[in-house]
Amino acid sequence: MQALNVLLIGSGGREHSLAWAISRSSFLKHLYIAPGNPATADLGSNLTLNVSDHAEVLTFCKDQNIDLVIVGPEQPLVDGITNYLTEEGILVFGPDDVGARLEGSKSFAKEIMAKYGVPTADHLTFVDENLQDAEQWILEHDVFPVVLKADGLAAGKGVFISTSKEEAFEHLSEIRNSPSLSGAASKLVIEEFMQGEEASVFAICDGENFVVLPAAQDHKRIGDDDTGPNTGGMGAYSPAPVMTEELMESVKNDVIKPMLYGMQKEGHPYKGALYVGLMIKDEKAKVVEFNCRFGDPECQILMPKITSDVLELLYRAASGTLPEYNLTFDEKTWVCVVMASKGYPGSYPKGYEITGFQNLKSDQLVFHAGTSKDSEGKLVTSGGRVLAFTASGDDLLSAIKNAYDGVSQISFKDAYYRKDIGQKGLRH
Ligand code: AMP
Ligand code: GLY
Repeated sequence: MQALNVLLIGSGGREHSLAWAISRSSFLKHLYIAPGNPATADLGSNLTLNVSDHAEVLTFCKDQNIDLVIVGPEQPLVDGITNYLTEEGILVFGPDDVGARLEGSKSFAKEIMAKYGVPTADHLTFVDENLQDAEQWILEHDVFPVVLKADGLAAGKGVFISTSKEEAFEHLSEIRNSPSLSGAASKLVIEEFMQGEEASVFAICDGENFVVLPAAQDHKRIGDDDTGPNTGGMGAYSPAPVMTEELMESVKNDVIKPMLYGMQKEGHPYKGALYVGLMIKDEKAKVVEFNCRFGDPECQILMPKITSDVLELLYRAASGTLPEYNLTFDEKTWVCVVMASKGYPGSYPKGYEITGFQNLKSDQLVFHAGTSKDSEGKLVTSGGRVLAFTASGDDLLSAIKNAYDGVSQISFKDAYYRKDIGQKGLRH
């Protein structure tokens, strides 16, 4: 394999961890990150590129002889950046716009799962301007809790779990009236509520073949013991003991294989990371959701866990040569704890100085998400999720201790983090 010029799109903790892993590759010529963050600037060249202008991205790729574009977040994929660049001969890690609809449209994901026999919650899709039919359905049925999902990308805010008829009506009117969900509001999925424990599996796919990374568990709610509103994810660990070897085999055979086969049949072979969100009960897994990219913060623990060359992995997925790759991992457990601005996932102040990086050990890593440099060059908070403190240990307990030891060293005003990351795993 030749050395590569790489363009990585994105700016969060996920992209920092990807940049960190790519920068260690023996196949890297130069790494560009658009737009990146203060930490990725130490690993490559941060760029100001208008990523939603695909022609501008293409011009950059041609000017700088980019060999591979890696797309971190979902929006550019849903917008079809892969289609555009691929047609112009640029290799891209990340699915085309139809593959990305597995995340971008809840009803499309359900349709594909039903067509190719992938286990998931029973559902109904309602399509009408004012969701009158959905309202009528709720009126006539008594099956609570039930899950309402607005179609379309909604940054985790489009899913509502209704425990009663009254609540379902409230959620319906929230969906109708929310400006951020309005685009999605004419299509609604109502689905069966699944009990169980959640875990995520990442399949790296080359259109036909795939490899899986060790299962991870995220912590989506803001509060300890999974309380309070949903967030992008407050911490994660891997491997997740809830995912036994047998279960992983069944996820490969019953979920990933039929999805890859299905997307091929649909004329859109899936290349990129397929995020399989699962609900596990009685040693059986059903799909909660798909995402068309790596998880954030799951990526921040999976990148350090991989001991083989990550850039080669992503290149082989994009170029359809995965069978030539030998994926290896370390034996450690990795844990990350997200440090957030107080107020997140609601509004929060910005601009607080972040300190405490001087005494990190080699198995402690900090991945930046919402940070920036102020006019004096000081590192300050600039987002809800500020950073992910990532650490390893010989087992889950020692990894948790190592991560929280690191968190206690980092400080910024009103830092908030969950105190129970990984506790679910200890119960197994
Ligand atoms: P989604 O965006 O589809 O992943 O939904 C966000 C979160 O809502 C998931 O991580 C689950 O915690 C929860 N959720 C979604 N669908 C279901 C379901 N059918 N049953 C139980 N919980 C669900
Ligand atoms: N950690 C959840 C997500 O990336 O969607």
